[in-house]
Amino acid sequence: MVTLRLGNVSARYGRRAILSGISTPVFHGGEVVALLGPNAAGKSTLFRRMFGLLKGEGIVRIEGARTERPLGYMPQDNGSNAALTVYEAVLLARMQGRRLSVAPEDLAEVERTLDFLDISALGSRDIGDLSGGQKQLVSAAQAIVQEPEILLLDEPTSALDLHRQIALLSILRRLATERGVLIMAALHDLGHALRFTDRAMVLRGGALVACGDTAEVVTPALLREVWGIDARVEPCSKGHRQIIVDGVA
Ligand SMILES: Nc1ncnc2c1ncn2[C@@H]1O[C@H](COP(=O)(O)OP(=O)(O)O)[C@@H](O)[C@H]1O
Ligand SMILES: [Mg+2]
Repeated sequence: MVTLRLGNVSARYGRRAILSGISTPVFHGGEVVALLGPNAAGKSTLFRRMFGLLKGEGIVRIEGARTERPLGYMPQDNGSNAALTVYEAVLLARMQGRRLSVAPEDLAEVERTLDFLDISALGSRDIGDLSGGQKQLVSAAQAIVQEPEILLLDEPTSALDLHRQIALLSILRRLATERGVLIMAALHDLGHALRFTDRAMVLRGGALVACGDTAEVVTPALLREVWGIDARVEPCSKGHRQIIVDGVA
């Protein structure tokens, strides 16, 4: 089973230090981990650092991987290549770092992924003509089609309607449970984090201020300290934890 651990990780843009001293426990395949934190906390920077797009001190230790390139990454801004259809763009993503020729299994995986995300009907559409939410699902497909063992998703639900938010989060949960993928997703909706994730990492000002079981991490005290809001965390009629916001602290 694949595992991931961060040890004293830092990152900078030029001379500007953004992240420092980020250390985590070991995360395992099959888990869904939320990366939480206010705007500019360093969530996207941490993903870029983990994916190797930024250099820095410390270690990103991956063990037990089956493949040479176990990491997949869905960036926050899905820069879309307008000259391609959805099918072509997802196939191109699939072929990254693989053989030069397309095999039947590659086409099958593209179709399976589009179907999994319920966007098969968009296959022949030009990416440039899609809505923001449709583009975001294509971007998720481009990451999932590579069959990563560890999948980093930067605000994957930010442009989606409520139905598609829940659908995508359910799909990520299934990828973890059924295929043993370690999912790490930056989320702003803390209610979704409570419902769909096992553990949570909370960043503020480039430092890790909390890390643990999501239900233990997301507390009124943390909501006040990190997000500056007065809120309660109370069970609903079905017993699930919900966040009720009373105002700005
Ligand atoms: N390319 C960049 N060059 C310099 N500073 C950057 C760059 N990208 C992000 N930053 C800065 O790094 C900090 C963290 O940004 P980011 O990781 O995007 O935060 P988050 O994803 O949590 O909103 C912010 O202060 C932001 O302005
Ligand atoms: Mg970001």
